[in-house]
Amino acid sequence: MKLLIPGPVEVRDEILQVMSEQLISHRSIEASNIQINIEKNMKKIWNTENDILLSTSSGTGLMEAAIKSCTLKKAAVFSVGGFGDKWYELAIANGIDTDIYRAEAGEPTTKEVLKEALDKGIYDVITITHNETSTGVQNNLEELSEVYKNYNVIVLVDTVSSAGGAHIDVDKNGIDIAITSTQKCLGLPPGMAFCTLSERARNRAEQVPNRGGYLDILNLYKFMKASHQYPSTPNVSLMRATEAQLDYIVNVEGVENRINRHQTMAKMVRDWAKDHGGIFANEEYLSDTLTTIKIKDESVFKILSEEMKNRGCILGSGYGNLATVNFRLAHMADRSVDEMQEVLDMLSEIWNEKIK
Ligand SMILES: Cc1ncc(COP(=O)(O)O)c(C=O)c1O
Repeated sequence: MKLLIPGPVEVRDEILQVMSEQLISHRSIEASNIQINIEKNMKKIWNTENDILLSTSSGTGLMEAAIKSCTLKKAAVFSVGGFGDKWYELAIANGIDTDIYRAEAGEPTTKEVLKEALDKGIYDVITITHNETSTGVQNNLEELSEVYKNYNVIVLVDTVSSAGGAHIDVDKNGIDIAITSTQKCLGLPPGMAFCTLSERARNRAEQVPNRGGYLDILNLYKFMKASHQYPSTPNVSLMRATEAQLDYIVNVEGVENRINRHQTMAKMVRDWAKDHGGIFANEEYLSDTLTTIKIKDESVFKILSEEMKNRGCILGSGYGNLATVNFRLAHMADRSVDEMQEVLDMLSEIWNEKIK
């Protein structure tokens, strides 16, 4: 089955093979070397010199860890959909004083909204979703950084569905913590997450008294710094798979080539969408890794998904209550341009026969 949902994605056979290798001690030099290699290559994907931390949770774990470890006064969440809202829910569940600024579905976070909020002078942490998987919006981090760089706030960015598939300049854009998960553009099984950590974020976390236990960002940092190991027992198999896949991304395909391939597929899907239901998200802020395609109601997705399933493909519905107005087509990870064309040809055939 081809997984056309925005994660988890199909994983290359070579990587599945690595996952099944015999285990090693997580306190060995070999384990440290694996972590070192992961750190080295994630820095290239994120364009950063900052430290890299690993977590044996999915991305949500590090989102919780980041907002909990860095908020001393009050956080502002800039949400453009379901995963932006997630930051807010996590903060509230942890008793963190937080405000949320929501954009309309399909719209980005704007410089104006960001500036107006930061001018209040009450926040010491902000969260931004780079690529909102629920709406297909990709925020422009460079544009937003022109605003937030003028304020003394720790900047947390969710790059869960973009790292490894879209350009992200962590250092240039002054991002203190960027977070991603294994199961999206990196093309790995789910189960681990990574983040960048700036010195500023580390200094802030040192002042925060209750950072939690398992996901205390400073504890993850301490073990990384001491031995490039993990405080408890990590998912060694997935770490090995990550080491191999990141080596492939950086040294075989090349990060730029990978991003270009994502952009090529994104253009193909957008062109298809324009000729069929139309694109749901604001066309100036479209995701490089998934596209939301408008439908007149849920019956359209029902027909498309059933027919695609018969052809060996799993299609993604719209997220939450957006399921009535769009469906999602992922173009991420190791999908080839030719495969993407085949998928679009199948969709055209079904659309012309059953929807039009
Ligand atoms: C944009 C975005 N943020 C956060 C998450 C949560 O990540 P995880 O499922 O790895 O916890 C997802 C998952 O789909 C996502 O798409």
